[in-house]
Amino acid sequence: VYPRFSSLSERGAAFLGVKHPIICGAMTWVSDAELVAATSHCGGFGLLAAGNLEPDALLAEIERTRALTDTPFGVNLITIAPSFQAHLDVACEMHVPYVVFAAVFPDAKSVEKAKDAGCKTLCFASTDAVATRMIRMGIDALLLEGSEAGGHIGPVSSLVLMQEVLLRWRDEIPIFMAGGIATGQAIAHVMLMGAAGVQMGTRFIMSDECRAHPDFKEAFRTAHARDAMATPSFDSRLPVIPVRALRNEGSKQFAALQLELIQQLDRGEIDRNKAQELIERFWIGALRRAVEEGDVAHGSLMAGQSVGLAGAVKPMHAVFEELLGDAETELERVAAQLAT
Ligand SMILES: Cc1cc2nc3c(=O)[nH]c(=O)nc-3n(C[C@H](O)[C@H](O)[C@H](O)COP(=O)(O)O)c2cc1C
Repeated sequence: VYPRFSSLSERGAAFLGVKHPIICGAMTWVSDAELVAATSHCGGFGLLAAGNLEPDALLAEIERTRALTDTPFGVNLITIAPSFQAHLDVACEMHVPYVVFAAVFPDAKSVEKAKDAGCKTLCFASTDAVATRMIRMGIDALLLEGSEAGGHIGPVSSLVLMQEVLLRWRDEIPIFMAGGIATGQAIAHVMLMGAAGVQMGTRFIMSDECRAHPDFKEAFRTAHARDAMATPSFDSRLPVIPVRALRNEGSKQFAALQLELIQQLDRGEIDRNKAQELIERFWIGALRRAVEEGDVAHGSLMAGQSVGLAGAVKPMHAVFEELLGDAETELERVAAQLAT
């Protein structure tokens, strides 16, 4: 049905073992067996989020996913999570066909372990240096993510990463672009530039099958691109892990807390470790509160800048039909343009 897009998709589709190389990025508290299966049923590729799950809960989620779909899927592991090694053990024992390493890049031993268990390995890269390092380490594919993305972000935009990394490495290794992609037209152009496929998160929140609270989705529906802001960091004495999320009361209070702690540091009223601990404690549990309880005022509304394009909530198959149809039409437009 989508001849031009299918032909452009061949490499990414073969690597992932699915029809369309469109990945539903793992989202902690969001990406469960139902979301993975819904993605699979549309010909896309789903990822379970290991997040901070108990290892047994991850194992149960893998089994649930297998009961819902026969198509390949992956597990996204946060390398700095306390249970990372246990999660990796579960993924290997369960012979999950794909493992994604997220957060800080993995060590060679972890990549080797996954490969020895028969898993294909993917890793996030958000800078040229990390991409080069992971390719040299022998990772099977890259998720190249620009700072427009929702959730934890790197420092460089997708457009620059496409020129710095994608153009340089596209013939050596499959590269899936992420960050700021929400339309079929953008998917087509990113793949014309040599991406094997794409990963999206924000857009898939707006699917019926996504378990996020209705108020979380409603906040996405009404948000503009400019509302999805990176966490501000005011002082190098208090480093903050950058996260892109919709601004709300919680993010205002976090900024106020930072400014208050900086003043206390200046006056010698608090030591740096204590201040850092208060900073790190602030967002604990905040994503779960937003996703599960619908606390859109004080929870963490992780969202990418593409939130302004996310549209209304629809069944996943309607999201895919729109993406694929728009990608195909765009490729026809490009072909006609080149033929004149
Ligand atoms: C609510 C939310 C939670 C996320 N959680 C994770 C996560 O746990 N692990 C991860 O690797 N990426 C996470 N991401 C990033 C997505 O997997 C994906 O790479 C990103 O959303 C792509 O950019 P986009 O938002 O512009 O589509 C999250 C994104 C969102 C919006």
